[in-house]
Amino acid sequence: MELALTEGSVIELDASQKRYCNLISYLPIPVWQIDARPAERIFDRLKASSIGDLGTYLDEHPELVDLASEVLRVFAVNDEAIQLFGGKHCSEFLGPVRYLFAGTPGSARRVMQAHASGARNHVEELEVKTFDGRLIDVLLLMTFPVPGERLDTTILMMIDNTARLEAEAKLRSVEADFSHAARLSTLGEMTTSIAHEIKQPLSAILMNAQTSLRYLRKAEPNLEKAEQLTSRIVECAQRASDIIGRIQDMAGKRAPTNTLLDFNDVVEQCLVFLRHESEEKDVVIKARLQPNLPLISGDRIQLQQVIVNLIVNSIQAMKAAPQTRREIHVETSLGETGQVAFSIRDTGTGIPIDHLAHIFDGFFTTKEGGLGIGLAICQSIAKAHGGTVTAANHPEGGALFRFSIPTESTARVNNSAFAKYPTPEILPN
Ligand SMILES: Nc1ncnc2c1ncn2[C@@H]1O[C@H](COP(=O)(O)OP(=O)(O)O)[C@@H](O)[C@H]1O
Ligand SMILES: [Mg+2]
Repeated sequence: MELALTEGSVIELDASQKRYCNLISYLPIPVWQIDARPAERIFDRLKASSIGDLGTYLDEHPELVDLASEVLRVFAVNDEAIQLFGGKHCSEFLGPVRYLFAGTPGSARRVMQAHASGARNHVEELEVKTFDGRLIDVLLLMTFPVPGERLDTTILMMIDNTARLEAEAKLRSVEADFSHAARLSTLGEMTTSIAHEIKQPLSAILMNAQTSLRYLRKAEPNLEKAEQLTSRIVECAQRASDIIGRIQDMAGKRAPTNTLLDFNDVVEQCLVFLRHESEEKDVVIKARLQPNLPLISGDRIQLQQVIVNLIVNSIQAMKAAPQTRREIHVETSLGETGQVAFSIRDTGTGIPIDHLAHIFDGFFTTKEGGLGIGLAICQSIAKAHGGTVTAANHPEGGALFRFSIPTESTARVNNSAFAKYPTPEILPN
């Protein structure tokens, strides 16, 4: 219903708007006020042309977004906004809104789409270009008037995200350093295994080469034999090179990359890696891998780091056990909630009850020369993959660890729900 405004009520409204403007100037975050009236004219035009999907239409008609960026004008800003953009005077900020989206042009289109679809607000993270030429990360928050409200102002706020993003990046880098340190320490614990793995193909190369030379030096060289032996040399050299490659992967510092993986494959590679380590310590590893597990999405090296850490811990926990009772049972399985799990049970010391709450803490160790970061890293890697690592004692003795992560399809469903605001991964303390 249209209400005629009396002279008195117009004056009252005007005064109320002034008070409102004043109020915004005291807000402790950067605020822009935009005259929203021209937007209605543009939206009327859009409605009249009865377009289908507005997003597609705006993609095909960028000139409309351009037009909106020109005709929608800022009419007031507060000091915080001037400061954020490194401006000198409020007059630099009044006029077309275009400059607000210069750092992330795509966001003007998204804002327009939100407004046109009748949304009450729009929030997104974007980069803005300041007047002194910097690009800064901000959280943009806008609230739109909706038709019939007789409001003609769009309020736009920005929160400087630089410090938060810097802190997150620092956290990620510290976490990567820790993870790298843990991998190096695991490699350090596996030197016997590594030396053996490399020595084996090298001795085979030596032996085959010597035999091959003997065949070649005969009065009538046996080329067929020499060829066979040379092929074997190539195979062995390839094996040695693969092993070194695997060690370099573990020892190197690199950004994690997610790929689609067969979980059993990841586990099997770890078992090969640790074969000699366990043999040397008289530990028998029995594996039962459930076939045909669904694929998972993850970083191969990080997942191997978790599994290798858990196995090495189990091997170490059995130092005191009698040689005939040093067994590790590993298992992969598919859980009911769409998770794949790696379980490991050993016949070692088990975990004292009062330690159970602390073993995942950084720097908690009961070993002489232990670093105490292995399990903390395992947990952090599991979390980053949307999974968990849990510890318990087996009723018949020994420790029982379970590492589970979502399968690729479950991960996809969950990620899409949270994709908008990812939580930063935090290293357990
Ligand atoms: N399989 C296990 N059996 C018994 N205790 C374990 C086992 N795995 C881990 N722990 C306990 O958890 C602690 C922390 O392990 P971890 O974070 O890998 O660090 P570290 O191996 O350097 O001590 C160990 O020192 C040990 O007390
Ligand atoms: Mg450890």
